[in-house]
Amino acid sequence: MIEKIQAVLNEIQSLTAKDEKELESLRIKYLGKKGIVNEMMAEFRSVPAEQKRAIGMQLNELKNSLQEKINGMREELSHQHESEIEQLDLTRSPYPIRLGTRHPLSIVKNEIIDIFSRMGFLLADGPEVEDDWHVFSSMNFAPDHPARDMQDTFFIEQHPDIILRTHTSSVQSRVMESTQPPIKVICPGRVYRNEAISSRAHCFFHQVEGLYVDKDVTFADLKQALLTFSREMFSADTKIRLRPSYFPFTEPSAEMDISCNICGGKGCSLCKNTGWVEILGCGMVDPNVLEANGIDSKIYNGYAFGMGVERIANLKYQVKDLRLFSENDVRFLDEFTAAN
Ligand code: PHE
Repeated sequence: MIEKIQAVLNEIQSLTAKDEKELESLRIKYLGKKGIVNEMMAEFRSVPAEQKRAIGMQLNELKNSLQEKINGMREELSHQHESEIEQLDLTRSPYPIRLGTRHPLSIVKNEIIDIFSRMGFLLADGPEVEDDWHVFSSMNFAPDHPARDMQDTFFIEQHPDIILRTHTSSVQSRVMESTQPPIKVICPGRVYRNEAISSRAHCFFHQVEGLYVDKDVTFADLKQALLTFSREMFSADTKIRLRPSYFPFTEPSAEMDISCNICGGKGCSLCKNTGWVEILGCGMVDPNVLEANGIDSKIYNGYAFGMGVERIANLKYQVKDLRLFSENDVRFLDEFTAAN
């Protein structure tokens, strides 16, 4: 038994514990109820009487050494803890807070607003849930115009007159009915159309529409404003081309293409090898629209234009799938940090 005690005494010299938990399990192993020391105490009972004294002393020594060792280790651990706190640099600046990034559509929308603001356009805003008058009737849509069809327009249930706006021309109507010319506004906002969702279409998208009403406004003014916009938005050598088109609220109407900014007009998949990409609709405000909104068309005339923000963002960033804009995947949104 003496040898056994000696072995344990040797063993405890090299005990280590890296934290309180390890120390506690050592304590239990040696000094716990079912620990090694108690085990030896049980054995001690059957030691012959003549050896009891010597072995008893040894056992006591072991017990004391163990207690001392464990107390010593506990002391050491608490010092270690203190020095860890001492090493904390409380003056170090904190980790930077991870800021969010601007949504690509906001970046592009703000750029469009910025360019037109510099040309003297003011911002105008209006409701997304609109009535038929501001979206269609005041904009010279005939009562049976196909754009009013259920195919395109979301109706508010049980109310054939209340709809989700399909374009922000409704804001132009609201500005005209409450303001006399000169009017020079841009109307950015979300619009809704009943389309099947795919990589190329969504049931909502974003527009910026513009309206200028004054005396003697000409088509040349419109063309110059749009050329300036295109060159500021894309590059100084961007070319524009206007193709005749039709909108109920403008006469004459046109669609505007810009020279493809990806291939520089040489032809690529984005411009379908034509060298041109369509970016907006425009025209001279139809006198019927001015009259419907309380503006004398014999004194005033104007131009209007409207573009899709997603389309411009696609041209700038070549986003292949429209749905990415509304999925809020941070891996996609983080791509735009640099442009922020
Ligand atoms: N409102 C048209 C659209 O939503 C765009 C447009 C605005 C066209 C103004 C001409 C003039 O497609």
